[in-house]
Amino acid sequence: MSGEVKIKEIERRKAEVRRLGIHSHVTGLGLDKNLKAIDVADGLVGQKEAREAAGIIVKLIKEGKKPGHGLLLVGPPGTGKTAIAIGMARELGHDVPFVAISGSEIYGLTIRKTEFLRQAIRRAIGVRMKETKEVYEGEVIELEIEKEPYPYNPYIQIATGAIITLATKDETKTLEVGEKIANKLLELPVRIGDVIEIDAETGWITKLGRSSSKGLTTKGKTGEYKVAKLIDRPSGPVRKTKTITHTVTLHDIDIANIRFHRGLLFREEEISDEIRQKVDEYVNDLIKEHKAELIPGVLFIDEAHMLDVESFAFLSRALEEEFAPVLVLATNRAITTVKGTDMKSPHGIPIDMLDRLLIARTRFPNRDEILKILEIRAEAEDLKISKEALEMLADIGVKYSLRHASQLMLPAKAVADAMGDSTIEPKHIERVRSIFIDTRESVEYLKNELARDSFLAEFLK
Ligand SMILES: Nc1ncnc2c1ncn2[C@@H]1O[C@H](COP(=O)(O)OP(=O)(O)OP(=O)(O)O)[C@@H](O)[C@H]1O
Ligand SMILES: [Mg+2]
Repeated sequence: MSGEVKIKEIERRKAEVRRLGIHSHVTGLGLDKNLKAIDVADGLVGQKEAREAAGIIVKLIKEGKKPGHGLLLVGPPGTGKTAIAIGMARELGHDVPFVAISGSEIYGLTIRKTEFLRQAIRRAIGVRMKETKEVYEGEVIELEIEKEPYPYNPYIQIATGAIITLATKDETKTLEVGEKIANKLLELPVRIGDVIEIDAETGWITKLGRSSSKGLTTKGKTGEYKVAKLIDRPSGPVRKTKTITHTVTLHDIDIANIRFHRGLLFREEEISDEIRQKVDEYVNDLIKEHKAELIPGVLFIDEAHMLDVESFAFLSRALEEEFAPVLVLATNRAITTVKGTDMKSPHGIPIDMLDRLLIARTRFPNRDEILKILEIRAEAEDLKISKEALEMLADIGVKYSLRHASQLMLPAKAVADAMGDSTIEPKHIERVRSIFIDTRESVEYLKNELARDSFLAEFLK
């Protein structure tokens, strides 16, 4: 049951990261072991302070420590704040939750904003569960599968049972298994020389790899084929107790509970406090029995200035609770109104929240950095682009913005394709630059146009 939940969690997290496709080239924070940023690494370029700040936070999270409420990344648009947050997610590893939302998501919800945030917080807290299971584990040294023709289709053979001998470095054991396991052995398939694990209770078989004494290829009916992973023959007894850990989130358990009691869950449904209390009690019991531990992860809120005062108040309270995720906020606003009030505040964030955040900044990249980022983007998008065209885009990046420059790449590719060229050349860049304009240009343009019509200008002021 719980295994199922875990698989779902990982898929969803991947989907979240995928949604942020323009950052697909980011694979980490690119830090060395002293937590110093390497110029260009893991798809990130420059922005050393912000990357190192993120790295320090990741380290603290891994040690189970909490730096206040967390980190605020501040910097102009397109300077890599979101990219660095994605880098953090990759550094945290699979079983530390990283939940990404955007401040603007709190509008137009069918559930209360505080409920939305509560769910996000619970998705950002992992529960690492420890389970013990009895298994038979070893290298298959003998395998006899008894087969007979399938009654409804004599061309197919089905297994009726099997005798299998498993060996570790220290012991050899022969097992007689029934139809279910025998068919699984056929299906996988398991061959002599494979190292396998059979769950003593459920009969579930896992191929752990191929015994290193057997080499990387094996002979089958259809010839030689490669096997995936070479491993050593295990040591110790064949039958052993194994501890496995898997991580779900508090939110996963909330959902599983609703399903369990009612069998049905509506999308965007509010989860009652009663259910959450029950789940908390259940998890607390597991923790007391040393069967689980809580892992606070990261709740990343992009465009944090879009949150309103009610949301900030809720977050402040929730983050004071005993187990809370670390908050990472990003914004490109200097002083702006806190939504839902007429008060201005730095970054549109109430002061009491700001006071509990560490702040790091991203800066405008220089030309070399822009060039490097564009090159990495082109590679990530699988675009063939000439050196000259890249240089031209870098100039556009310096003059307008990195974002404008990188947004021109795909249109340039479309133009190159249409012209039958396989590589993006300066002429394609020139062409799209003559068509698409940057925000500064579009604003300038409208201002000038409207100025020509003084009546309209007055009206639209
Ligand atoms: N230093 C960098 N290294 C690698 N890629 C970068 C860097 N800075 C920006 N990028 C890439 O440029 C694009 C824009 O960056 P990103 O979205 O992270 O900016 P941002 O600071 O979050 O901007 P905004 O304030 O508009 O949200 C993305 O494709 C991002 O991956
Ligand atoms: Mg961003």
